[in-house]
Amino acid sequence: MKTTEVTEGIFRLSANVEDILFEGIWPIPNGVSMNSYIVKGTKAAIVDGVCDWDGVPQTLYDQLDRMQIDINDLDYVIMNHLEPDHSGWFRSFLQLRSDVTVITSEKGAELVKHFYGYEGDIRAVKTGDTLDLGEGRVLLFAEIPNVHWPETIATYDTKSKTLLPCDAFGSFGSIGEKMYDDQLDEQELAFFEQEATRYYANIVGPFSAFVQRAIDKLKDIEIKIIAPGHGIVWRRNPAKIVGDYIRYASYSKGPAKTDVTVLYASMYGMTARGIDPVIEGLRSEGVTVHVHRLPEAPWGDALASVWQSSGVVVAAPTYEYKMFPPMAALLEELGRKKALNRKAFSFGSYGWSGGAQKELAEITERNRMNWDFLEPVEFRGAPTSEHLELIRQRGKELAVKVTEWVAASPAS
Ligand SMILES: Cc1cc2nc3c(=O)[nH]c(=O)nc-3n(C[C@H](O)[C@H](O)[C@H](O)COP(=O)(O)O)c2cc1C
Ligand SMILES: [Fe+2]
Ligand SMILES: [Fe+2]
Repeated sequence: MKTTEVTEGIFRLSANVEDILFEGIWPIPNGVSMNSYIVKGTKAAIVDGVCDWDGVPQTLYDQLDRMQIDINDLDYVIMNHLEPDHSGWFRSFLQLRSDVTVITSEKGAELVKHFYGYEGDIRAVKTGDTLDLGEGRVLLFAEIPNVHWPETIATYDTKSKTLLPCDAFGSFGSIGEKMYDDQLDEQELAFFEQEATRYYANIVGPFSAFVQRAIDKLKDIEIKIIAPGHGIVWRRNPAKIVGDYIRYASYSKGPAKTDVTVLYASMYGMTARGIDPVIEGLRSEGVTVHVHRLPEAPWGDALASVWQSSGVVVAAPTYEYKMFPPMAALLEELGRKKALNRKAFSFGSYGWSGGAQKELAEITERNRMNWDFLEPVEFRGAPTSEHLELIRQRGKELAVKVTEWVAASPAS
């Protein structure tokens, strides 16, 4: 990948990673980029790094070579965030060079020691602290805890008004030759918007209150460029990704879009017979419907879909006195990710005594999800035509509730 100049004195290095589960759990069908930045005054800093997966640090070193930057010429390693997708390369860096000044937060300093055994010069910064690189390039730091880990900071270059926020404002999606919003056409921007939504729902979602707080904290600084740790760099319209992140954060408590996600699972097709009728009922009121069958659907997609939806249909049979396991696991994860306050409807088949609905109630209560359910429809074995009609009706009712909720929200 090419090294490019983001703006005078700031260079972007990057590596794409594909064919992995991000964080060991999330499929990334379109890959993800790990972005790192060289910021130069008379002194040079590297801000954020890359992971230590197969060959990735070498990609970074090759890019430094091509820029004719000797690793010994780096004066500072600025670690905004210690998660190893950004800091992993530091292990190999320490084999090339044993001493460097690390800039991070106080909590970050502890993690540098624990993850990399580094006992050298570590400088802990707080909100408002600055670092003068010379030639008028003064970096300003801001603590943005829990976006994404508790130690996270953002680095701001006062000279070019570039914000380097690491995970915040990031997106999934590998990056090719075009890496700036000013190089992308509408279709390409729409692709990265989808990737940003899935990234947000999968990675950042539970920290939505902190995202909002971080955005409030950065409100008073003029931002001309946003250069995140993943995804494209925003040079033409940084306000776009900030606005999107404010919207994604608001989806945690809802309402989100006028969309309904249908999550379903079925062993022998009994529960599945209700899917067409429920979709028909939902669509009769004009809402957009997304359907995910478990366990086949990638978790990351199902989660991103619920994140953007104000309504959810949960359709699953009873399995060993409880809810069909992949559905229970996904619901549990939706609770942890804080997909709260959805309008919802559930139905499903059972053989003798049921149990799926009871577990559904347990999961939503335990996770304080506050999902507002219509009366469920349960049936033994195959649904009758009356059951199917009832399911269609409930789908329609759910769509009406979702539409009213979205219309009543101030953001709509
Ligand atoms: C492995 C297994 C475990 C089951 N456990 C229960 C159970 O504990 N209680 C119950 O009422 N039905 C149980 N059933 C019956 C299913 O809920 C029933 O067959 C239902 O119609 C399946 O719906 P589906 O075809 O949509 O998967 C079980 C079925 C299977 C295959
Ligand atoms: Fe992270
Ligand atoms: Fe990250």
